[in-house]
Amino acid sequence: MTAPLRHAEPIVVKVALGARAYDIVIGRGLIAGLGERVKALRPGAKTAIVTDATVARHHLPAVEAALKTAGVGSAAIVVPQGEGSKSYATFETVCESIIAAHIERGDLIVALGGGVIGDLAGYAAASVRRGLDFVQVPTTLLAQVDSSVGGKTGINSRHGKNLIGAFHQPILVVADTALLDTLPKRDFRAGYAEMAKYGLLGDAAFFSWLEANWQDIFSGGKSSGSLAREHAIAVCCRGKAGIVARDERETGERALLNLGHTFGHALEAGAGFSDRLLHGEAVALGMVLAFEFSAAKGLIGETDATRARAHLAAVGLPTHLNEVPGGVPGLDALMDLIAQDKKVKRGRLTFILVRGIGQAFVENDVSAAEVRAFLADKLATL
Ligand SMILES: NC(=O)c1ccc[n+]([C@@H]2O[C@H](COP(=O)([O-])OP(=O)(O)OC[C@H]3O[C@@H](n4cnc5c(N)ncnc54)[C@H](O)[C@@H]3O)[C@@H](O)[C@H]2O)c1
Ligand SMILES: [Zn+2]
Repeated sequence: MTAPLRHAEPIVVKVALGARAYDIVIGRGLIAGLGERVKALRPGAKTAIVTDATVARHHLPAVEAALKTAGVGSAAIVVPQGEGSKSYATFETVCESIIAAHIERGDLIVALGGGVIGDLAGYAAASVRRGLDFVQVPTTLLAQVDSSVGGKTGINSRHGKNLIGAFHQPILVVADTALLDTLPKRDFRAGYAEMAKYGLLGDAAFFSWLEANWQDIFSGGKSSGSLAREHAIAVCCRGKAGIVARDERETGERALLNLGHTFGHALEAGAGFSDRLLHGEAVALGMVLAFEFSAAKGLIGETDATRARAHLAAVGLPTHLNEVPGGVPGLDALMDLIAQDKKVKRGRLTFILVRGIGQAFVENDVSAAEVRAFLADKLATL
């Protein structure tokens, strides 16, 4: 696994969605060949690259150069970085800019950025001219293992996150792991929480592997030639691709990807979706709570919950509620936030619970009183 294979072939993961099937290509240095890949898929197409200001500074010139070398025309649409860009206002700017750049049916949108850009550009692609094809070039770990795959696109409403959107699958995902070298450590760690999620929800062997190899994933093999990062991203993409192929519209199994997200979203909302608590950090805390809640319900012993927490803590993710800067909402506020979450049906809460590491399942019938008692207990120990 850690053999120095510097020039290894990229890893290709297939998303089997019939006529909408596509490849996720994973490897170090793939940007250089992006133009050739685009040309092979859509000969003659021009592109609009949607990106944010930070990503543009680091990586837009290389992407533009790669497209140009292959003779693929491009226009750049640069929006402010951050969650605030998943808004009506920025969506309007992006759509209008795509039209102004004369992007027609048959042309392509390139989403170059993290989850914010993927969601925003994907939704613009779904909407302009009733649907344009798009390519995801994810630049955060979170986007490479999660948001760029599966076709969920959208923006935020004043009533909550991701409430306006569409399912629109990309035609290609190019995950260049070298792009992650410029990602701030904290964002990398937050993305790692989603990576650990795949182990915790359905792949105990992968979780054990992560416990042993996480340092190589963080260092990225730039000097050692280790392919741990590429391998781990591929495992996650294979996991997500399988789930998405079986349940594209989240009528069942896809909900497993929400492990840790009901508690996590409540904490994230409590922090005002600010830099105080990044999404992945909230998910790390949420997954620990999901394991502890499962233990409180007698589904697992304390050992599994302790092991999940120990690993997330080892990489530097928050795993105790008292690690949230500025504190967490009180019990009533937390319960309100949980009730607002979209995973609530007719007063009963849907939670992703576990029967062990790698054994998550969807429980549609959790009572609010039970959750309240569990959280009251947690908050009492702060
Ligand atoms: N569609 C889905 O299935 C799905 C799944 C999970 C999350 N999401 C969404 O993803 C978003 C979070 O994504 P994110 O964590 O990638 O956030 P993000 O896109 O805001 O990126 C985080 C920060 O890193 C910067 N950045 C990105 N790539 C960089 C790089 N290579 N070098 C330096 N800086 C870089 C960005 O400018 C930004 O400031 C949320 O809006 C969430 O709702 C969507
Ligand atoms: Zn998430």
